[in-house]
Amino acid sequence: MALLIATPDRDSEELGRLIRRQDPEIDLRVWPELGRAEDIRFVLAWKPPEGLFRQLPALEVVSSLGAGVDQLVDNPQIPGHVAIGRLAGPRLAANMAAYLVAVVVARWKRLPDFAEDQRARRWNQWAPEQPPVIGLLGTGEMGRRTAAAFGELDFPVHGYSRSGRGPAGVTMHSGTRGLHELAGASDCLINLLPLTPETRDILDADLFSQMREGSTLINVGRGEHLVEADLLAALDRGRPGCAVLDVFREEPLPQDHPFWDHPKLFITPHCASITLTREAAELAVESYRRVMDGKPPLGVVDRERGY
Ligand code: GLV
Repeated sequence: MALLIATPDRDSEELGRLIRRQDPEIDLRVWPELGRAEDIRFVLAWKPPEGLFRQLPALEVVSSLGAGVDQLVDNPQIPGHVAIGRLAGPRLAANMAAYLVAVVVARWKRLPDFAEDQRARRWNQWAPEQPPVIGLLGTGEMGRRTAAAFGELDFPVHGYSRSGRGPAGVTMHSGTRGLHELAGASDCLINLLPLTPETRDILDADLFSQMREGSTLINVGRGEHLVEADLLAALDRGRPGCAVLDVFREEPLPQDHPFWDHPKLFITPHCASITLTREAAELAVESYRRVMDGKPPLGVVDRERGY
């Protein structure tokens, strides 16, 4: 049984080296060098090349190198019997929580204003009275870690999930009504949902109209969750008052895109939390060994549900 790394837009040399170091027994292949394609049963993929899966008759498992599986679950080239997994370790979730705490706290404490004050030699003592209410769309691994981080700071946390279940201490909502309640209750609305047909375009005019005036929208899910034109119109109306975007429909964000110089937007280039090579190598070996033992891969997803 061979393991193939297929991550054409990333340098996989270090990942391959770490996997080999951990388990020299693994028959490891790195795309585009497939070797005997019939040996490959496990593929570690990120933006996999067009046509790859059709070349692998013995394929059993495809694991995403990251947390998102949206490029895999709706990939018609992956036969229905193939299991899909993902590698989302504790560091990935902790890094996401750190990014979200950083952007929320920077806004809450108005740190950019102090930078301006400093440049103007202005002594402008100020501190906020109340912590912002956090609304989390999605309470999976990243959502739980993020809820815990804000909870630790005594920020009130609300959550939205399909089942309505969520971590202790989080006021949960579900259904369309619940989604609107969450938007209305939040000072900072954070999207951490997986991308599925149900969640595509969920950040739209309807949702924005429920948001608090001057609130902040943060999208760290996928670009396809957001209806871009609706956001631009909503920002003009002040609901939300500003947005922090880390993911985009087209990445890299095209040079002529209106988001670049919008005064109410803060954008980062899909780096809120990036798969760490060391963590990914450890998890990949663990997932591969599980499959060898006849178990499902790590983070196995329900292909029907899409996450
Ligand atoms: C990053 O976006 C990931 O899905 O891990």
